[in-house]
Amino acid sequence: MEKRQELYAGKAKSVYTTDAADRLVLEFRDDTSAFDGKRKQALERKGMVNNVFNAFIMERLEDAGIPTHFDKRLSATESLVKKMDMIPVECVVRNVAAGGLVKRLGVEEGTALNPPTFELFLKDDERGDPMINESLAETFGWATPEQLTRMKALTFKVNHVLKQLFAEGHLLLVDYKLEFGIHEGQVILGDEFSPDGCRLWDADTREKLDKDRFRQGLGGVIEAYEEVGRRIGITFPEA
Ligand code: C5P
Repeated sequence: MEKRQELYAGKAKSVYTTDAADRLVLEFRDDTSAFDGKRKQALERKGMVNNVFNAFIMERLEDAGIPTHFDKRLSATESLVKKMDMIPVECVVRNVAAGGLVKRLGVEEGTALNPPTFELFLKDDERGDPMINESLAETFGWATPEQLTRMKALTFKVNHVLKQLFAEGHLLLVDYKLEFGIHEGQVILGDEFSPDGCRLWDADTREKLDKDRFRQGLGGVIEAYEEVGRRIGITFPEA
């Protein structure tokens, strides 16, 4: 597989075309950003840790029957993915109150959410990814009702699989964000699943082991990501 030109550089990943028309290379960089790019820092090893973490999770999700864009890991920081038409809508499931929900509704952080909540946000950095709903997505053509139904079902299926996986590592899956796209007419999971896009707490101490360590300036960001990985059975390559 030959990597060709850079198609797009996001805040933490770059996308490259390849010699295959239906495959792209995702490169996980060390760059980290929060607050819509207002806080930025390069964290050593982060690209590798997130790439290896994501590959492990995507393979578990595929094993559970969830279609994803993931094809294979190519190197420490690169993975091959299926080319898709991205749906510009982020799906968030929350099992426990934290982050945006606490800010918006004044619920106490740590409150268990039964049943888990499901929210939609528009992928739009300029507007700070505003919250939307199914009606807005349909009216503005961001996703069809059928696609939204499928995205919601897949997002909850991911919750079922990953809550259990993380629980085995004595971790609480607090919340996470997923993105989807269309490949060969089917809605499939895209983007990445790593501690950059979810919240994970130690099940007993509730210590934060995800990107909130970066957002809140707690330090030990990559060490926490590696700790989560080790607890669920990931072996990271040596530097
Ligand atoms: O900020 P908020 O509480 O709404 O985020 C919910 C979950 O979605 C968190 O795990 C957060 O890391 C993730 N998220 C993300 N990218 C965004 C917005 C939220 O990964 N643009």
